[in-house]
Amino acid sequence: MNKNFLFENYKDDFRVGAALAGFIYDDDFSLPWKKTPDGKDLPDFKNLPDKEIASKHFNLIVAENDTKMEHVYRGLNDFNFDRADKLVKFGKKNGQDIRWHTLVWHSQSPDWIFDADCKAQPRPKWDPNKPFVPPTPEEIAAKCTVSKEELERRLQNYIFTVGDRYKNDICSVDVVNECISDKNFKLRTIEDYSRWSLILGDDYIEKAFFWAKDAFPKSNLVINDYNLEMIKGKREGMRDLLEVLLRKGVPVDTVGLQMHIDIKNPPVAEIAETIEMFGKMGLRVIVTEMEVSMYTSREEARRDFTAAELEEQAERYRSIFECFRQEARRGILQDVVLWGVTDRFSWKNNFPVPNRPDAPLLFDTEGKKKPAFIQLSSF
Ligand code: XIL
Repeated sequence: MNKNFLFENYKDDFRVGAALAGFIYDDDFSLPWKKTPDGKDLPDFKNLPDKEIASKHFNLIVAENDTKMEHVYRGLNDFNFDRADKLVKFGKKNGQDIRWHTLVWHSQSPDWIFDADCKAQPRPKWDPNKPFVPPTPEEIAAKCTVSKEELERRLQNYIFTVGDRYKNDICSVDVVNECISDKNFKLRTIEDYSRWSLILGDDYIEKAFFWAKDAFPKSNLVINDYNLEMIKGKREGMRDLLEVLLRKGVPVDTVGLQMHIDIKNPPVAEIAETIEMFGKMGLRVIVTEMEVSMYTSREEARRDFTAAELEEQAERYRSIFECFRQEARRGILQDVVLWGVTDRFSWKNNFPVPNRPDAPLLFDTEGKKKPAFIQLSSF
């Protein structure tokens, strides 16, 4: 087919999106430090190829971090929409649709919101010479002093304030992110660091969806999670939760599969099975955070990747996008969003192993098209 821009190749089937880091859409972007952690000079953010790639190849965008609650909800009546406004402006200028990620999540929520007096909780000082010991669930719970009623008010205020400002600009909203526990595939609790479930109880999920329906009447309302395509028990846990929510008339209409996968796993057939399972329930599916890691385990040491490995990655992307096309033509899959633009700034360079460069996206560290891009733009 060979169209100029990636999204054009899939235009009749699904939107192709990317998560964008702040420097891409914020012309005033700067960092408070002068060097990278390993002592190198910072890049000249104004002139990176990522900006142009992001504006040309995708017809859907989402902020990688700037629309998370900790960035936006700075205090009780203190909202910071600076970056979110810039994201929306960038998308409008480029004719792109825009997603909101995310409204309720156990991670990247501001600490003040769980405190009765709205005080930000001092975080333990990080000492680079000692291994980082995360606080225990008990220590976290001890700092949750806000009442259920007050936290509900704060959450409701957040959802409606964001909706008031952006309801006409946002095509879909991740209302609840990562609410399934990896331990038993039931709802995440404080044992898995959910302060929302600790204080509000399990029905915070349905409340958030009802509020989101009023606040974003035109947007698709998404429940988003990882490893649903990777772990059968986890997707069945999500299915069980959704059955209850749908029976109660909760306005969730879309399942978001994050799809942080790797070059070998999971098999394409399992991805198809996952999409179809939710399709059969009458739900739409979107892929919200895809990348294909070159590593298949935490244990693998960092290495340079061979041309053959990059070809293998390209084949893997292609076979999965073929599956996406079929599922879109069945009317289930609607969007596919990649979690980043170039390999240089992928979060996978530091996750799950810090400082282990990965190469999971379609453009290399210099912004050059990788074999995976070539494959995806030519079938
Ligand atoms: C990640 C970002 O990519 C990082 O920059 C940030 O430091 C942590 O969060 N699931 C999600 C995303 O829903 O918001 C996460 O994004 C990746 C996992």
